[in-house]
Amino acid sequence: MSDVAAKDSIIWTDDFLIGIAELDYEHRMLIKDINLLHQELSRHDSQDKIKDTLGDIHARMQAHFALEEHFMLENNYPHYIEHKTEHNDLLDEYTGFLVHFESEGDTPSYLQAEEILNRWIVDHIVTSDKKMSRTIR
Ligand SMILES: [Fe+2]
Ligand SMILES: [Fe+2]
Repeated sequence: MSDVAAKDSIIWTDDFLIGIAELDYEHRMLIKDINLLHQELSRHDSQDKIKDTLGDIHARMQAHFALEEHFMLENNYPHYIEHKTEHNDLLDEYTGFLVHFESEGDTPSYLQAEEILNRWIVDHIVTSDKKMSRTIR
């Protein structure tokens, strides 16, 4: 088991709100999942359990990006390509991590997953998603 210490939980505050109800709801659920991952890592839960949570986050990430991209297209968001590229990069990095995680005999670096997920929240949601919401509304 990795000896990486999990980071502190992310406390939901209104700073995360972008002002589009369905996307805000998904962001909130995402942060909940990431906090669950932090807890499981802190408790040194089984690899199977952690693997399930990592997979759930992956599924949530894909579904969320698809919904957000659909929303941007519907609203003719002018920075769609740039925003979608950020989604693709985050998803590629995270998928790469999962592949690495699942490869046999390889100790995963949970810090890498947490770094990607934190970057998604800090750099993407509070900057790019907010910018998109400000432009569309
Ligand atoms: Fe988002
Ligand atoms: Fe986004």
